Amino acid sequence: MSPPQSLLRVLQRQHAHIASLTSRVMESVGRERQGAVTDLLQYVALHESAEQTFMHPVAIRSVGDMSAVQGRVAEEREIEAVITHLEGLNPDSVDFMIYFGLLEEALSGHTRAEEEVEAPVLGAVVPDQEIEHMARGLELVDVWMDPATRSIDGSMARLPLLPGPAGQVGFGELQRRSLEAFDAVFRLR
Ligand SMILES: [Fe+2]
Ligand SMILES: [Fe+2]
Repeated sequence: MSPPQSLLRVLQRQHAHIASLTSRVMESVGRERQGAVTDLLQYVALHESAEQTFMHPVAIRSVGDMSAVQGRVAEEREIEAVITHLEGLNPDSVDFMIYFGLLEEALSGHTRAEEEVEAPVLGAVVPDQEIEHMARGLELVDVWMDPATRSIDGSMARLPLLPGPAGQVGFGELQRRSLEAFDAVFRLR
């Protein structure tokens, strides 16, 4: 069972970006680390919201092996809980490093499971056209993060809200805004 390439490609690209943002946090200190944390949390909020809008619901509807999807949704709840705790900590403190270690581990297990378990299962049961729709939905994350790139496969993406200047919007609020925006796009398509 081979995973659908369009979906797998966008997942791998976005997961690699999350891994590189995670490394930047580990390699920096002080204000630079604070900025790196903000960039990471902003990207993770948008990425997980896009998956929760475009990918997991289709998987829950279509896939016989529910554990392949429910496990991913549970992991996302755990990641959100660690992030909520992390946001209240000084990035240069020992506590922060302990919780950041937990986040890094949770993210790497979760992203690997999406690529190696959820995507192949989806590829086996969901029609190509719907897989394509999922991949294009996930690509909205990069469009939203980079307003200079407004075109997805030649069509204009319309996202009703901007994520907001980095650092001014917390993870929970950003996730709420992005879920709302992705849902609006999902209903338009
Ligand atoms: Fe996810
Ligand atoms: Fe993911």
